[in-house]
Amino acid sequence: MTDKRPIGIFDSGLGGLTVLEAVHKVMPHEDLIYFGDSGRAPYGTKSAETVRKYTFQDINFLLSHDVKMIVIACNTASACSLSAVKESYEWLPVQEVVGPGSAAAVKTTKNGKIGVIGTPATISSGVYERAIGAICPDANVFSKSCPLFVPLVEEGWWTGPVPERVAKEYLKELKKQKIDTLILGCTHYPYLEKIISEYMGEGVSIINSGRVVAESIKNSLTETDMLRGGRSEGKIRYFTSDSVTKFASLGKMFLKETLSPVEHADIESVSVAPRGKNG
Ligand code: DGL
Repeated sequence: MTDKRPIGIFDSGLGGLTVLEAVHKVMPHEDLIYFGDSGRAPYGTKSAETVRKYTFQDINFLLSHDVKMIVIACNTASACSLSAVKESYEWLPVQEVVGPGSAAAVKTTKNGKIGVIGTPATISSGVYERAIGAICPDANVFSKSCPLFVPLVEEGWWTGPVPERVAKEYLKELKKQKIDTLILGCTHYPYLEKIISEYMGEGVSIINSGRVVAESIKNSLTETDMLRGGRSEGKIRYFTSDSVTKFASLGKMFLKETLSPVEHADIESVSVAPRGKNG
C-alpha cells in the first residue's frame, strides 16, 4: 500500500521552507504542497484567536489540494491551535514541530539548561516548557521571545550588523544563564542560525527541528502504510498569499534553487469552518 497524494505544509511565510527542505531530503519521492501566508505574516505578534482562524484557513486551503497529511511548519500555529486542530480534524494526520524539537533538545542537553527562542505568541503560550517538562521534569527551561527576527528573515536580512545587533540584544540573558542547548522555536530562525550560533558560542548546541520533524513524518507515514515509494523525485508546488515574485526570489535565496512557479492563493476567501473527511 502506498498513498500517492501530496503532503501539505504551511507556515506564516518563508519559515516553513526550513521544514520543507528537510522533508524533501528525507522523503525525496513525496509530492509536497507548500503554502506560505506571507500576506498575513507575522503570526507571532497576533492574538491566539486570529492565529487559530488563519490556521484553519491554511489547513482548508491545503485540503482543497487533496493532501494526505498536514504539517504545521509553524511553532506559533502549533502553540495557538494544535488542540483545536486535533479536535476538529480527528480524521486527518497532522504533524507539528514543538514535540520533536523538545525531544531533540532533551536528548542533547548535558547540564539540563535548555533555552528556547520563539515568537511572542509561542513563548507566552508556555508550550515548550510543557513539552520539555513532560519528557524531563528536571530540565530548566529559559525562554525569550524575539519578535524582530521574523521581519528580518522575511526581508532577506539574514547577515550583517543589523541582525547581529538584534541577536545580541535578544540572546544576552540566555547566554548568562549558561544554557548548553538552544531550541530555534520558530521555523524562520534557522535562516539566522549562523549569527545566533556565533553569538552563543561553541558550547551551545542549536536545535533546528526541521530534520527531526521530517524523521517523525517518515515514521508515521511508514507505520500507516502511506509512504510514497518509487524512484521518481517528488514534485513541489508553492503557494503564497502575497507577492509571488518576492516569495520566489527569497525562497530561491534560501533553498539555493529556483522554485517551480510560485502560485498565488486567495486565502481570505477560504472557509474557516473545519472540513470533513469527504470535503
Ligand atoms: N515561522 C513561524 C513560527 O514557527 C511564525 C513566525 C511568525 O509569523 O511570526 O512560529
